[in-house]
Amino acid sequence: MSKIKVGIVGGTGYTGVELLRLLVSHPQVSIAAVTSRAEQGKRIDDIYPSLRGRIDLAFTEPSVEVLGECDLVFFATPNGVAMKMVPTLLQQGVRVIDLAADFRLKDVQTWQEWYGMEHACPELLEEAVYGLPELNREAVESARLVANPGCYPTAIQLGVLPLMRAGLCNGTIIADAKSGVSGAGRQAQVGSLLCEAGDSFKAYAVSGHRHLPEISQGLGMMAGDAPELVFVPHLLPMIRGIHATTYVSVPDRSVDLQQLFENCYKNEPFVDVLPAGSHPETRSVRGSNICRIAVHRPGNGDTVVVLSVIDNLVKGAAGQAVQNFNIMYGLEPALGLEQVPLSP
Ligand SMILES: NC(=O)c1ccc[n+]([C@@H]2O[C@H](COP(=O)([O-])OP(=O)(O)OC[C@H]3O[C@@H](n4cnc5c(N)ncnc54)[C@H](OP(=O)(O)O)[C@@H]3O)[C@@H](O)[C@H]2O)c1
Repeated sequence: MSKIKVGIVGGTGYTGVELLRLLVSHPQVSIAAVTSRAEQGKRIDDIYPSLRGRIDLAFTEPSVEVLGECDLVFFATPNGVAMKMVPTLLQQGVRVIDLAADFRLKDVQTWQEWYGMEHACPELLEEAVYGLPELNREAVESARLVANPGCYPTAIQLGVLPLMRAGLCNGTIIADAKSGVSGAGRQAQVGSLLCEAGDSFKAYAVSGHRHLPEISQGLGMMAGDAPELVFVPHLLPMIRGIHATTYVSVPDRSVDLQQLFENCYKNEPFVDVLPAGSHPETRSVRGSNICRIAVHRPGNGDTVVVLSVIDNLVKGAAGQAVQNFNIMYGLEPALGLEQVPLSP
């Protein structure tokens, strides 16, 4: 099989360079174009010496002509960028994986309310496939356009999927989630400065975060009716990682939850259900595409607590995008994704 030609729009951002880290080792990929408006003309390995000897390209401007030569284009750009180029690329026969939120929500009104802009191609929302492979693998296989999930939604949805599929959730789901600072991207902003985010801890967007409608939509895909969701994100003074603690009322005691989770994920290469009583750590997944999960029923009460951890830049973004890429091209699921997490 000849190599698949890919382009990356937004190659200087954190998810863009993470895509590069993964794709330079992917045996079926040839990287044809990597864009940055600010750094165009500069060699990629001048900006990211971590890639010296692994890629011999310079950043280019994002042009549909160049990207149109690719088989697939990854958009690692802010919300609202991909939607302006995707219709033309699809017309040219290019497949697309968008790491931003442009195609994640099915309802255009909801999208416009949460993202505060007009959608440039609402006619593509129905066709776009929500790329959480553990939920939607079959649709991803034949997709032209994949909406890669958000980082919090990945950790939270994988945590509740077994319970939702089994119809065990009763009442409001409470997701209390924490992210490292790289979740906010590489652009300069005061809240991401070391002296602002370091040695401190806070919640944000309690009254409403853009990932809320995405998670609710995913819950609906799992079980028809989406339960009420309370989602509280927090900023952690670390670089990578998400830890989600999700509280679900499950009065039914007849199901062995450990068994339920293990069965649900037994064929999933990137979800690791830990032994009963475990407490997953973000550093146990650092740099890898793995989501580690533990399920608890404290004091044998009605509330089940699910702990799930991912690396926001890998399973929460670039790694999941490569996982979707492998599925779209019928490749081995773990191709380019076999990294063991970094420890310490
Ligand atoms: N960071 C995470 O953990 C994470 C996780 C899941 C999903 N996401 C999503 O993934 C996307 C990228 O996130 P990130 O953290 O990598 O962002 P980032 O670090 O801010 O990088 C953004 C990239 O997009 C390029 N860009 C910005 N505006 C552009 C435009 N109008 N046209 C073309 N390129 C443009 C930038 O380069 P130039 O300005 O030089 O062109 C840069 O390379 C976002 O939508 C984010 O919500 C991020």
